[in-house]
Amino acid sequence: MSRPFFAKVNQAVTNDLRNRLDWIGIPFANMGSSSHALRLLDYACGTGLMSRVFGPYVTETRGIDVSPNMVASYNARARAAGLSASTIEAVVGDLFDTRNPSPTGAEWEGFDLATASFAFHHFEDVVHAARCLKDRLRPGGVLMINDFLEGGDLKADEKGEPIEGTEGTWAVHHHGHEHGKKEHSTHQYQPAQVEDEPGWDRAKMAASVVVPSFTIEGVKKFFTEAGLVDVDVVIMDKRVYMEFAGQKLWRTILFARGRRPVDARSEL
Ligand SMILES: C[S@@+](CC[C@H](N)C(=O)[O-])C[C@H]1O[C@@H](n2cnc3c(N)ncnc32)[C@H](O)[C@@H]1O
Repeated sequence: MSRPFFAKVNQAVTNDLRNRLDWIGIPFANMGSSSHALRLLDYACGTGLMSRVFGPYVTETRGIDVSPNMVASYNARARAAGLSASTIEAVVGDLFDTRNPSPTGAEWEGFDLATASFAFHHFEDVVHAARCLKDRLRPGGVLMINDFLEGGDLKADEKGEPIEGTEGTWAVHHHGHEHGKKEHSTHQYQPAQVEDEPGWDRAKMAASVVVPSFTIEGVKKFFTEAGLVDVDVVIMDKRVYMEFAGQKLWRTILFARGRRPVDARSEL
């Protein structure tokens, strides 16, 4: 089934972020006369939305996703665009696995920017997730995420038109596993989830949603608890239409950024 709304959501996010480069707060590459290196980690990369958003402004991109299907699609797209593996490549991994976080090694550390797009609503422990991502940044590097704002939904009718007066939280929590039972997160995410890609499975995607949305204060709190500083959260002016957990909704997207402290003592 073709899901054309995804392209519109991705375009809206792309436009918004490219208008907010200053807000993200790192010296992007290829701007004006500067020619420094800039390394991006696109975590839970899927097919690479954030890698495409920031591609023009970074010199090296590394993706990680727990889904082999996603990683295969990501790398196939990058090669089809004529980009080499040294410029952009994704691997299968899970940084949040407490027993065996992967990938490891110098190539997977010291990033200037780490992103996790439409991903935190899948993570069981958001403080742990933000801390693991922070640890892969250079001191002064930035974590930037996007996700959905609690209370920012509007119901849509059968044709997808917004129904005025229905502002609220309409995306519901479809947990695929028992509450209170701690499962390892990788068990929830197979196979891949993006709908216009082979391997898409709507039921599994709904089952892997832990929370449908976040408050601004909630995101600020877990970023701060993870040891990030210079934290800020902004929301997109216009809602975007999407089908989420089986419902037709207009949803509000939030962006959050936080910086790894330059002074390591402030992380203790
Ligand atoms: C809704 S998709 C978003 C993909 C992409 N970031 C985007 O914005 O289009 C969520 C992605 O998170 C991945 N994912 C979920 N849990 C993960 C984990 N613990 N580690 C890495 N990736 C994970 C899924 O495999 C999926 O590709």
